[in-house]
Amino acid sequence: MPQQRRWHVFDTPGSLATAAVVAILAAARAAIAERGAFHLVLAGGTTPKRIYEMLAAEPADWQHWHIYFGDERCLPADHTERNSRMASAAWLSRVAIPPAQIFPIAAERGPAVAAAEYARTLAGIELFDLVLLGLGEDGHTASLFPGQVKVHAVQVALAVFAAPKPPPMRVSLSVRRLGAARQVIFLVTGAAKAAAVAAWRSGVAIPAAAIQPAAGVDIYLEALLA
Ligand code: 6PG
Repeated sequence: MPQQRRWHVFDTPGSLATAAVVAILAAARAAIAERGAFHLVLAGGTTPKRIYEMLAAEPADWQHWHIYFGDERCLPADHTERNSRMASAAWLSRVAIPPAQIFPIAAERGPAVAAAEYARTLAGIELFDLVLLGLGEDGHTASLFPGQVKVHAVQVALAVFAAPKPPPMRVSLSVRRLGAARQVIFLVTGAAKAAAVAAWRSGVAIPAAAIQPAAGVDIYLEALLA
């Protein structure tokens, strides 16, 4: 089934970030009102940092937020390149989300051990409420890289040993698990993503195109990439 894509174009990374914050807060309010909890998967890399910093300044029903990660680099937990470290410094350490509701991937334990452990962590979550994802210059998303994506893998979390984007060892949620979500938003800024976006638009099966939630995906795109 082809991926249903909705493209949303923003003049600047700042206006894109503002729109993303509005969408995240709206998704949280709806999930908490309907089910009493908001299960959110965070994107790694650098693009989301500004969004996380803006969320830190927002009022929200934080005690009902549950935070997961779409992928993690196999580095020490306090390493500056860890996705969990960036999210904590920019946002999570600054708001009253209960620490027991923040689920970093223990990637410092190595890809295989951490992937198996995270699968157990996610066992009780049938659908995420919202999944945030980035896009790499080669079309990767999370730590699902071209030529390595097992679209039909039944695992929840995958051990990655040869990532072309350093570090080589990572843990990634699978295509299947990332798509098990009520909403998926891709956050895409920077001229370096132009080739990946063009390939995506022209129907090339880049890893990002494999994420196919029932409701389709929303792609927040900086105007220079449109
Ligand atoms: C990672 C990320 C990765 C990232 C893209 C975009 O751990 O590297 O999960 O998938 O989202 O590479 O990264 P930037 O936002 O830094 O461009």
